[in-house]
Amino acid sequence: DASDIEKGTYDHFMLKEIDEQPIVIRNIIQKYQHEDGSTRLDADIRAAMQQADRIYVIAAGTSYHAGLVGKQLLEQVANKPTEVHIASEFLYNMPLLSQNPLFVFISQSGETADSRGVLVDVKKKGHRTLTITNVPGSTLSREADFTLHTFAGPEIAVASTKAYTAQMAVLTLLAVDTAYAAGRTLDFDPIQELGIAANAMEALCNQKDEFEKIARDYLSVTRNAFFIGRASDYYVALEGALKLKEISYIQAEGFAGGELKHGTIALIEDGTPVIALATNEHVNLSIRGNVQEVVSRGAAAVIISMEGLDQEGDAVVLPRVHESIAPLVSVIPTQLIAYYAALHRGCDVDKPRNLAKSVTVE
Ligand code: G6P
Repeated sequence: DASDIEKGTYDHFMLKEIDEQPIVIRNIIQKYQHEDGSTRLDADIRAAMQQADRIYVIAAGTSYHAGLVGKQLLEQVANKPTEVHIASEFLYNMPLLSQNPLFVFISQSGETADSRGVLVDVKKKGHRTLTITNVPGSTLSREADFTLHTFAGPEIAVASTKAYTAQMAVLTLLAVDTAYAAGRTLDFDPIQELGIAANAMEALCNQKDEFEKIARDYLSVTRNAFFIGRASDYYVALEGALKLKEISYIQAEGFAGGELKHGTIALIEDGTPVIALATNEHVNLSIRGNVQEVVSRGAAAVIISMEGLDQEGDAVVLPRVHESIAPLVSVIPTQLIAYYAALHRGCDVDKPRNLAKSVTVE
């Protein structure tokens, strides 16, 4: 059928979509940047960002994890206070809103009912809304005041990969545009760094054997696994754990490096896999301390570090990229490790049990 043709030489859409990520990022740069280097965003979106005194990001699942990284970009690059909320909780647990909020919905499908519930509610209250989506004609796109397209192309595998990195790239562009429009000068060029990240992603996609081996050695029989990280590595730990549990059914949890010891470390036994993300320079010593804590209790640690921060014995060393966009790169090993773990365990990679690509009920 048609879906077999689209898969080309790949056994699964997920692997194809993982491999497409460098191209998707380069494509996004092209779509959102003029030849002269300036950003190409609707004047209306630019104005809405300038007028907003606080950004409220609303999303679910993997898109929520992209939002967490987006918050860091919007605050550090654009100097915009930002909060990130799980869509299904927002209306029951509404924060006090600022004077001029802008609501940003992140949704691959643009159809998630939990997010739409919030959109309908905040629109009724007269707030402005922007949807970042992979499907421009979708419900969330049509109903919001503004849309930013993630240009990732159709994502077929239930577990989201390229849509997630595309969301983070678009959030980077949004942050840069907002910064420049406000007259801020940046001490680095985030768009150029995105291009460097795309090259690093490509290099990692060419090292699949390494990730297959890690999956085989650490995840083929285990019942559980932990992902730890600090700062933005923590957000990737959350996404890495979600990806692994979605498709391999291994009970996986992402933790802030320092938090594991406040309870969950009780679960560490001989051989429990702990995947540590260690790409953030300012927390490198502390995350390595956390790895020592679990290793001394028997954990089998897999450290994903970055050139310049690496130490002997690190399982994966990422090419050097700028810290603010490192999640786009460090997530690739976690996607590939999850893919091969699911494959080794005989799971239906593209269509995991109990999950739907988009959830249109509350
Ligand atoms: C479903 C999917 C997840 C996805 C989430 C949000 O639960 O299985 O992969 O992250 O919905 O979807 P959205 O389309 O709003 O990004």
